[in-house]
Amino acid sequence: MKEKIEKFLEEVRVFQTSSSEELEQFRIRILGKNGVLNDLFEEFKNVTPDQKKDVGQLLNQLKTQATEKINATKTLIESQKTEKKSNKDLTLPCQFEFTGARHPISIVRNEIIKIFGNIGYTVAEGPEIEDDWHNFTALNFPEEHPARDMQDTFFIERNPDIVLRTHTSSVQVRVMETTKPPIRIIAPGRTYRNEAISSRAHVFFHQVEGLYIDHNVSFADMKQTLLYFAREMFSADTQIRLRPSYFPFTEPSAEMDISCNICKGAGCAMCKKTGWVEILGCGMVDPNVLENCGIDSNVYTGFAFGMGVERVTNLKYQVKDIRLFSENDIRFLQQFESAL
Ligand code: DAH
Repeated sequence: MKEKIEKFLEEVRVFQTSSSEELEQFRIRILGKNGVLNDLFEEFKNVTPDQKKDVGQLLNQLKTQATEKINATKTLIESQKTEKKSNKDLTLPCQFEFTGARHPISIVRNEIIKIFGNIGYTVAEGPEIEDDWHNFTALNFPEEHPARDMQDTFFIERNPDIVLRTHTSSVQVRVMETTKPPIRIIAPGRTYRNEAISSRAHVFFHQVEGLYIDHNVSFADMKQTLLYFAREMFSADTQIRLRPSYFPFTEPSAEMDISCNICKGAGCAMCKKTGWVEILGCGMVDPNVLENCGIDSNVYTGFAFGMGVERVTNLKYQVKDIRLFSENDIRFLQQFESAL
């Protein structure tokens, strides 16, 4: 009898099918009411007591192995069926899905927000369509003053009091008008100027404004803050230099250069062989501006700065033409950090 059971064990071991009908027939033949297993159990009754243990074990083995084989085959057939249904050929080379990437301007803007966020600056916003007061007058641009020509403004024809903001400095005014110092904000946003479009200029671009107002804020505080920013943004060995400059809303005013992060000062096309590149304007907030916004200039001082996000991005990623940022060419955009 042992041999007989072993023969069936072998049969179970080698059995395979992809047809559910065949599998069902096999199940009935082995496990069914009049099947092999029941016949064997019937026969088992006549086995001599000294053989019962061995034969019994073999019989149980047959039962478990047959059940397992049938269940496993059933699962296999079912999974093959669903694969067929979805019509998938798993041997085909896979298709790469493009998941989308963050825009380089957004990446850099977010990084600037993070760097200043780490030293307590919060984000402020203002409208892109501004009035003359917030864009110019409150910022100490007198009427008819040639400083207004520094920025080729888009005016609204029917109401010259309304402009597309030429800089994010307008957000400084909005914040100072509504917030009691201490103030520590940055204002990222889009700005507009009527410029001829070229690889270096565009009619719209992005800036990040910064403003810090409190008791005893000094030029040295500004310098250290901007050095911290430059080193976080570019590299720990970045140097800065401040050149005297003029802005109506700051006194004294400066422009800040950083040591060229591309050639490390050796001289390249990006820094026009000077080893330095300009990245922002800055200065101590002019007392007139504080007063225009309702802040007592005898009590408070502050500094402000404004940088072009395209400029910082060009340096960070060595982009040589700012038109690329608005052309939406996927070959350019997909080179940056995945949005996922
Ligand atoms: N608004 C200036 C511009 O667009 C940049 C700027 C210069 C902003 C000096 C400032 C500043 O806050 O203090 O050219």
